[in-house]
Amino acid sequence: MTAVAHTSHYDTPYGAFQLNCYPARPDERLIAWCSADTLLLEETHQRGTPGPGILVVNDLHGALCVALEPQALWTDSALAVLALRHNEYANMRTQTRIVWSTEKPPTVPELVVLRIPKQRPLFEYQLSQLAHLLPQRTTVLAAGMDKHLSPHTAAILERYIGPTQRHRGYHKARLFSAVRNERRAPEYSGTATYHCEALDAELCALANVFSREKLDMGARFLLEQLPTVAPAETLIDLACGNGILGLVALKQGVASHIAFCDESAMAVRSARLNASRIFPQDSSNISFFQGDGLIDYCGKPAQLILCNPPFHLQHTVDDFAGRNVLEQCSQHLQPGGRLYLVANRHLDYQPTLRRTFDRVEKFVSNARFNIVLARKL
Ligand SMILES: C[S@@+](CC[C@H](N)C(=O)[O-])C[C@H]1O[C@@H](n2cnc3c(N)ncnc32)[C@H](O)[C@@H]1O
Repeated sequence: MTAVAHTSHYDTPYGAFQLNCYPARPDERLIAWCSADTLLLEETHQRGTPGPGILVVNDLHGALCVALEPQALWTDSALAVLALRHNEYANMRTQTRIVWSTEKPPTVPELVVLRIPKQRPLFEYQLSQLAHLLPQRTTVLAAGMDKHLSPHTAAILERYIGPTQRHRGYHKARLFSAVRNERRAPEYSGTATYHCEALDAELCALANVFSREKLDMGARFLLEQLPTVAPAETLIDLACGNGILGLVALKQGVASHIAFCDESAMAVRSARLNASRIFPQDSSNISFFQGDGLIDYCGKPAQLILCNPPFHLQHTVDDFAGRNVLEQCSQHLQPGGRLYLVANRHLDYQPTLRRTFDRVEKFVSNARFNIVLARKL
């Protein structure tokens, strides 16, 4: 389990709660709630809607669900669910029902309380789904931090849901309310595809998946090195996104058994869709896992891990996200196992890897990226 950081005390109209971030960073005071959460909680409290009538969307660390005790949380993120579970436990709350972003919310809420995601395709996908679910006159309360909001937020809400009000700002956050009207909302799946030359196939990715429309430059550099990677039987594509690294490794015979792992439900679903379309005959050799890195991964140890790690933590560029994912790698490698990691040159993961691997070296680099090879003897 990742270390637990200082607890932050959050006063809300629903009571006072002790909240932690997840993943937590030791010796650092990170606040597990923000003023967008406060705006949403104050407005919901004024309206008096009881928890079982509320659907919460995109709660980041559980501040909304712990206070509101809603009917469900609709989210794409396993990290957000882990944060919520820690905070429910700490505040003696019952566990909120989770509905993954890849599923439709099961019941019709009286009120939707939504943290606006930074990724616009995800936001539009969620609004389009909600628009088809919500009866007329249902309200969607949406809030975000100013620095992450598009100038078109109100117009987007209006297009999918109905008449939208832009409310007051508070501590660099903004609240909107949109009321579902009778107009038919546009369909928006947010799915994107691109042609992957190495696979000679189209790769698809759902709305919240990294690099949905084109091959990431770091991933491209790692793929260019695959012909020099000694083949292995088992491989983990860690932080897999649409599954590009593992799928190309399978195609090139670098490995025959692949596990695709990511914290995003949409990433894991995209990798699954791509694998079953491109390699239908290999389904018994391919597995999928959604979670925080490999912390709760229970597949067999692999001989090889390929990783293009995350460099954002929630909304912030932060190498802690990558270090967190890498910490468990060596435990899930067999003796003699190897990890190949691609990272921007300014992000140095070698000290983290040296703590758990026997040998760590720079494998190759170009003007933008380093590939690091870490070995377990
Ligand atoms: C830089 S992208 C790489 C995606 C893909 N492998 C590629 O090369 O295009 C990093 C991925 O890490 C995932 N991620 C972020 N934090 C994670 C965590 N704690 N555990 C597992 N995956 C995580 C993100 O959802 C994202 O898909």
